[in-house]
Amino acid sequence: MTNAQPDRSSQSQFGRLAGAYGASKTHAQAGALASAASMLGDRRYGTAMDIGAGPGFTAFAVADHCDRIVATDVTPEMLEQARSLRGERGAPQTELMLTAAESLPCRDGSLDLITCRTAAHHFLNVDSWLAEVHRALAPGGELILIDTISPDDAQATSWMHDIEIWRDPSHVRNLTEAEWVDAIERAGLRVAETAISRVDLEYPDWTERAGMAKEEAVRLGRALKDAPPAAAGAFGIASRADGTIEFYWPILSVKAVKP
Ligand SMILES: C[S@@+](CC[C@H](N)C(=O)[O-])C[C@H]1O[C@@H](n2cnc3c(N)ncnc32)[C@H](O)[C@@H]1O
Repeated sequence: MTNAQPDRSSQSQFGRLAGAYGASKTHAQAGALASAASMLGDRRYGTAMDIGAGPGFTAFAVADHCDRIVATDVTPEMLEQARSLRGERGAPQTELMLTAAESLPCRDGSLDLITCRTAAHHFLNVDSWLAEVHRALAPGGELILIDTISPDDAQATSWMHDIEIWRDPSHVRNLTEAEWVDAIERAGLRVAETAISRVDLEYPDWTERAGMAKEEAVRLGRALKDAPPAAAGAFGIASRADGTIEFYWPILSVKAVKP
């Protein structure tokens, strides 16, 4: 199941919301950032590229481990956020590059590290993207991929997919853990480490950050509240007396190595 939206719908979605993402506590503080840094271990990297960098949070988190860090994104407004945040986030050396994930302007084997957090579910063709990652990485180079994933339950997955696309038309698909591992290995990378965590979300903050019209957001809130039991259980959906609704998406972190 995929979202058949036009190719660059991410640019319009994230272009108008870049400021909200730059200010988002969810994105700046999520535990998955710590997991990205911990997967790096003690290694020192030469050239690193963060893909779908948005306001730059992941690039900033790994910058100290690298001689050179390049934050890339397809949305110019997101890179402008990264430009204004990089100094205060302690990574003024972060370079910025406007490019699509599927076509990286770098030589074969020229990158020692590629990171990509909560962006891959917007990519139209994950296999083509992973082929590009494989091309760009040097032998021994590493991919650290962090993304929201679908649970194994088919009903919960289908519900999550509908909710995600409703909120954000640039959403394409959350793969399952097994689908990611399979796709990464088919691309010729070796999966070295995986970890499951979650990102805690709250309605209406979640719909506001996506710039949803008020009426649609209210309808989506109702759908969250009335979620089928399989989804309510899989995503820990809990309504509070003040009208807010807490839930979470599962997150997969993967470290993969190019042999
Ligand atoms: C939710 S933000 C991720 C933010 C960031 N990675 C972080 O760790 O906070 C998703 C980003 O992916 C970018 N994006 C979506 N599709 C893309 C593509 N095909 N190529 C490059 N960037 C893309 C969007 O422009 C957006 O900035």
